[in-house]
Amino acid sequence: MGPVASAVVPPADDVFRAPKGVHDVLPPESARWVDLVARFARRVRRAGYGMVVSPLFEHVEVFERVGEHTDVVAKEMYAFTDKGGRQLALRPEGTAGVVRAYVQHHPTPPWKVWYVAPNFRYERAQKGRYRQHWQVGVEVLGTDDPGADVEVIALLDGFYRDLGLTGVKLLLNSMGDAESRPGYVAALREHLLAHADALGDEFRARVHANPLRVLDAKVEDWQDVIERAPQLTEHLSEASRVHFELVQEGLQALGIDYELAPRLVRGFDYYTSTTFEFQTAALDAAQNAIGGGGRYDGLAEQMGGAPTPGIGFGAGIERVMLALDAQGDAPMLGGLDVFLVDGLGAPGGTESLVLVELLREAGFAADRAFGGRSVKAQWKAADRAGARFGVMLGRDEAARDAVAVKDLFSGEQVEVPRTGLVAWLQARTAGEETTA
Ligand code: HAM
Repeated sequence: MGPVASAVVPPADDVFRAPKGVHDVLPPESARWVDLVARFARRVRRAGYGMVVSPLFEHVEVFERVGEHTDVVAKEMYAFTDKGGRQLALRPEGTAGVVRAYVQHHPTPPWKVWYVAPNFRYERAQKGRYRQHWQVGVEVLGTDDPGADVEVIALLDGFYRDLGLTGVKLLLNSMGDAESRPGYVAALREHLLAHADALGDEFRARVHANPLRVLDAKVEDWQDVIERAPQLTEHLSEASRVHFELVQEGLQALGIDYELAPRLVRGFDYYTSTTFEFQTAALDAAQNAIGGGGRYDGLAEQMGGAPTPGIGFGAGIERVMLALDAQGDAPMLGGLDVFLVDGLGAPGGTESLVLVELLREAGFAADRAFGGRSVKAQWKAADRAGARFGVMLGRDEAARDAVAVKDLFSGEQVEVPRTGLVAWLQARTAGEETTA
C-alpha cells in the first residue's frame, strides 16, 4: 500500500470497535487457542524444534523477497515509514523474518524452529479470511534432505490428528529447482501468451512479470487457459524428479495419504521443489486451506546469506478453529477440570478458597465463583466454564468431611472424602487429558 491521499475517518460509533478484518479472542474461545498452541508446541518439541520469536515488523525489503508480483506484497502489505524515515512493513507471513534471522545470526544448521505469530494482510475480509490472522508454523534451514520435507509434512499431519480434525486432504506438488524452472516458465509463458489477446491487459502484464502468478489467479475468465497450461512436473530436472520421488516414498512409508496437484504453485515466489497444502472439506473453497508450505532453497541467498536450502509450513489458527467448529463433534478444548460450588453459604469463608488452591497445587485447572452467588448460579457458571467436574462443598457433606463430585459430562454424582479428593480425581482422569 502506498501513502493514502486522504484518511478515512470511521463514523464515531465505529471508532472504539476493532477495525475491519481483525478480531478479539476472548474466553472461553481463547482457552481453545492456548490448548491448540500447547499441542503444537508439544508435537514439534518432540521432533527437536526450538521456538523462535521474530519481530512483528521488518525492513520492507525482507518481505519484498517473498515476491514483488505476489498479491501479498503488491496489494496487501501494511507498509509504513517510521519517524526515523525507515521503510518498514508489518509481517504478512512468517518465513521471511525467520530466514532473515538465520542469515543475521548464522546458527548451526540444520536449524529447526517453530513459531506462533500474527500476520497482517490487507485482504478482502470475510469468514476465514482476516486482515490479522495467526499461524503456527515451522522452518528447517540448512538441509535439502528429502527426509526434512517428509518430517515437516508429517508434523502438520500429526498436529491435525492431535486436534481430532477429520476430512483433511493433503495436496502435493514440486516446483522444480533452478535448473527446471526456466524451461517450464518459457513453455508456460508461450502457452499463456497464445491466449493473451482475449484476456486483457492485467493478464498480459502478469504473464510478462511472472507467469507462475497466473496459475493461482482466481479470475473466472482465465481458468480455461490455466486448466490447459503445461504442468510443472513434466519439466523437472533429474535432481528435482528424484527428490520428489523420495519425498513421496517417505510419505508412503509413514502411511500419509496425499494427492498430486500439478497446479499447486502457492502464493509466494520463493517456493522451489516440494510444495504442499492441507485443505478441509468443512470450509468454502476460497478459504479451505488450513495450512501449507514448501521448500524455498534460494531465499537465504536473496537476503545476502550463503546458499541455504529451507522448508517449512504455516497453519492458520482461525481456520483450524473454524474447521473444528464445522465438525461439530470436535472435543471441547481447554475447559476447566474442576469448578468448585460453595454451598456453605458463608461469603468470605476460607473453605472453598483452601480447596481450590489445593486442587491447583495438585495440577488441576480449578476455579470457583466470587461474590456469594447462589448455588444454582454457581452450577451454571460451572457449565459455562466447560468444567469436567463440579465439586460441591455442601453442609450435609461438610458434616461428614466429604464433598459431592458431579461428572458434568455424564451427570453421574458421588460423595468423596475431602482428604481423598485429589487422589480420586487423579484416578478418574488417568489417561484423560487434564492440566494435571
Ligand atoms: P500461506 O499459505 O500464505 O503460507 O499461509 C499459511 C496458512 O495461514 C494458510 O494455509 C491459512 O490457513 C492461513 N491464512 C493465510 N492467510 C489468511 C487470512 N487472511 N486469514 C486467515 N487465515 C489465513 C505462508 O504464510 C507461508 N509463510 C508458509 C510457509 C512456511 N512456507 C514455508 N514455510
